[in-house]
Amino acid sequence: MSAEPQTRVLPADPDAVRTAADCLAAGGLVAFPTETVYGLGADATHGEAVARLYAAKGRPAFNPLISHIPDLAAARSLALFNAEAERLAAAFWPGPLTLVLPKRSDCPVSSLALAGLDSIALRVPAHPIATALLKAFGRPVVAPSANRSGHVSPTTAAHVLADLRGRIDLILDDGPCRVGIESTVVALIDEPTLLRPGGLARAKIERVLGRPLKDAAAHIDEEAPLAPGMLASHYAPKATLRLNAAEPRPDEALLAFGPAAKFAGTVFNLSPRGDLVEAAANLFSQLRQLDAAGATMVAVMPVPNEGLGEAINDRLARAAAPKP
Ligand code: TXA
Ligand code: MG
Repeated sequence: MSAEPQTRVLPADPDAVRTAADCLAAGGLVAFPTETVYGLGADATHGEAVARLYAAKGRPAFNPLISHIPDLAAARSLALFNAEAERLAAAFWPGPLTLVLPKRSDCPVSSLALAGLDSIALRVPAHPIATALLKAFGRPVVAPSANRSGHVSPTTAAHVLADLRGRIDLILDDGPCRVGIESTVVALIDEPTLLRPGGLARAKIERVLGRPLKDAAAHIDEEAPLAPGMLASHYAPKATLRLNAAEPRPDEALLAFGPAAKFAGTVFNLSPRGDLVEAAANLFSQLRQLDAAGATMVAVMPVPNEGLGEAINDRLARAAAPKP
């Protein structure tokens, strides 16, 4: 796929849905309607497709993405549902509610889409085209709102085209979105917590739960970037990282980028060919692999601060920050 694809806009008929599913399977980027806003979809299990999605949106950082699935059965294959999660899903899916749950150990969603977290955000949208696309594709689809980062969410195909023309492959046009604001995000990890108010009113959720939702300490959203360290949920490796290291010391492991000199110790390479998309796709899984390999000190080679490199360096800086 070229760096600047021609963006096709197709009326959302069954042929177009098939084309869109094929495009996702090839690692492409497809904007599609949901009842809340248009989403920018990528194969959630394909790390490089997810990295291209962040690049197309121009996200300042890798925030975790919502995985979209067609039904509750598909959702149960990705995350662990407790009794309250089952109740909310039964009451409000399909619909404008996103549940953040512990991910299953065999969850195939790429660690980049999860920003390295052990939790996963799931949503079953209530829109016939979204449902048809998710069923035709057969794997989870990550989809943030289909706008450039910092712009408002799109509720028509024309909004999507205005923001993302030339940056994505395909837009399925099915007219304006019914709800028009993003889904409500509720975490069911500890106490039920409202992470983002949205298209489903808090009172309706509290009625089904029979208790109030806690409020998140900080509003977590791509449009309101948090100071480094504030996003309590970001993945922090156990190892101590030394950034912009010219070369590793003998007692360190090496996290390389691009061609690296021979080194006797533990080495992971974000991208031997120096490709920032590949590096983004590998970032969180290699931080975990360094921990799993028992590395306590890691030399990290410099990563250029351009394109996705800015977000990679943001996450490396968080990972290197002194731990509380
Ligand atoms: O209505 C919507 O939800 C739209 C449509 C396209 O489905 N999607 C959307 O996605 O708004 P996005 O990426 O713009 O917002 C995802 C929100 C962010 O606030 C993110 O921080 C939160 O979900 N989120 C995702 N995974 C999370 C996790 N594991 N823990 C906490 N928050 C999470
Ligand atoms: Mg958004």
